[in-house]
Amino acid sequence: MTQDIVILAAGKGSRMKSSFSKVLHKVGGVPMVNRVLATASTLSNARLHLVVGHQGEQVEANCQGFSANVVWQNDPQGTGDALRRVAPFLQADGATLTLYGDVPLIRASTLEKMSALSTPNTLVLLTISLDNPTGYGRIVRDETCRVTAIVEQKDASESELAIKEVNTGILLAPNNHLQTWLASLTNDNAQGEYYLTDIIAMAARDGVEIVTVNPENEAEVAGVNDRVQLAALERELQNQQAIALMQNGATLLDPSRIDVRGKLTTGQDVIIDVNCVFEGKVVLGSGVEIGPNCHLKDCSIGDNTIIKSNTLIDDSQVGEACDIGPFARLRPGTELEKKAKIGNFVETKKALIGEGSKVNHLSYIGDTEMGANVNVGAGTITCNYDGVNKHLTQVADNVFIGSNTSLVAPVQVAEGATIAAGSTITKAVNERQLAFARARQINKDNWPRPVKK
Ligand code: UD1
Ligand code: CA
Repeated sequence: MTQDIVILAAGKGSRMKSSFSKVLHKVGGVPMVNRVLATASTLSNARLHLVVGHQGEQVEANCQGFSANVVWQNDPQGTGDALRRVAPFLQADGATLTLYGDVPLIRASTLEKMSALSTPNTLVLLTISLDNPTGYGRIVRDETCRVTAIVEQKDASESELAIKEVNTGILLAPNNHLQTWLASLTNDNAQGEYYLTDIIAMAARDGVEIVTVNPENEAEVAGVNDRVQLAALERELQNQQAIALMQNGATLLDPSRIDVRGKLTTGQDVIIDVNCVFEGKVVLGSGVEIGPNCHLKDCSIGDNTIIKSNTLIDDSQVGEACDIGPFARLRPGTELEKKAKIGNFVETKKALIGEGSKVNHLSYIGDTEMGANVNVGAGTITCNYDGVNKHLTQVADNVFIGSNTSLVAPVQVAEGATIAAGSTITKAVNERQLAFARARQINKDNWPRPVKK
C-alpha cells in the first residue's frame, strides 16, 4: 500500500531556550528532524510531507536534501490542525503515517511492523505502557479490550488518568477515512486545540479496526522538549551504537566512553580505547587499534593500522599497517600509503606519504607528494605558502631528509638524494646528490669568554 508520511515539526520548542528550531538540535551529530526524514525515506512507496511553522525557514532550508513536500502551519493549532494542512496533498488511497520531528530514535523496523498491518479499514496505533504516563494521551479500551478513544491528560477523568498505556503520537490511518475524520475535528477541549487523537473515537464509531503495535524500546518514542531530554537521548543513541559496534566484532574498552556522530564502520578485531570521537563517515579496517582521546572525522583507516593517543584525523585516507601518533594531526587531503609512520607533533595537509616513509617528530608536511621509504628528520617543515599561493613539494623514493630542514616550495628532491640537517632547500636536488644548504661551521681556538664587568 502506498504511504504518505507526515512529519510534524511546527511546534515552538520554547523549553529548549534556543534561537534554533528544536528539531534542528542534533542527536548523534545529526539534526533530529533529519534522522526522522532519513528513517522515513527507507520505507517503501513513501511520500514525505514536512509540516513547519516556528522557525520554519531554518527547518525548510535544512531539509532540502530530502524530497519532502513542505507544508506551512504558521499558527499551529494542534496536531489535528497540522494534519488538516497536509490533507489536500494526501493520495486518495493508501494510508498516512504521522511522525514527529522531535522523536528522533524511531526505528524503521517498528514502522514496517505498523505498515504490515495497514488496510483501507484499519488504523494502526503505536502505543507503549509506562509506569509514569503523566503528560501523555491515554489509550482507552472497552471491556473486550478494543481501543475506543485517546484521551489527553488535560481532558482525562480520574479513572482515565490511571491508564498506563499511552499514545506515542505515531499512528497510521487509511486515507479514505482520514479525510472525513480530519474535516470533522473540533477544538472543543481543555487546550482549545484540534487534536489528531480525536480521530480514534471516530474510527471506533465508524467500525474501522484499531490495532496497536509496541516499539522495541522506550527510547524509540521518546520526545525532546528540553536540553536535559536531548542529552538523555544522546546517551541512549550512543549506547545503542556502542552495542552494535561490539556485536559486530569491535572491542570498546569502555562502551560508555565513545561518541559516534555519524556512521562508523569497523572491520574485525578493532580495538578502541576510551574517549574517542568519530564524526561523519569513518571506516576502520580489521585489526585497527585506536588509543585514547582520538578524534577521527570523514576518513578511512586501512587494516592493522595503529593510531596512538590524542591523534586528530580529518578528511584523510590511511593505508594498511601505518603507525600514527601520539599527538599527530592529519588534516584534509592527507593520504598515507601502507606502513607509513607519522609521529608525535606532526601535522600533515594535502600530503601523499608513500609506502614505508616516516615523518616521526615535530614536522609540518603540506602540499607534498612524497615517495616510498623516505626518512624525514625531526623538525622538517615544508614552506608551502608564500603569503598568497600554496606551492608543491615533491620528494622522490628513498630520500633522506636531515633534521631541521626547510623545504621552500615549489621544490623537488629526486630519488635517493640526501639533505644535510639544518638545510634550507630552495632549489631542486638531483638523484643521489647530497645537499648542504646551511652556513659552514667556524671554530675559533682559545676563545675568550666575556667576563662580568
Ligand atoms: C501529543 C498527543 C498525545 C501523545 C503525545 C506523545 C495529540 C493531541 N496529543 O501530545 O496523545 O501522548 O503527543 O508525545 O496529538 N505540532 C505541530 N503543530 C501543531 C501542534 C504540534 O507541528 O499545531 C508538533 C509539535 O512540534 C510536536 C508534536 O507535533 O513535535 C506533538 O505536539 P505536542 O503539542 O507536543 O503534543 P502533546 O501535547 O505532547
Ligand atoms: Ca509533546
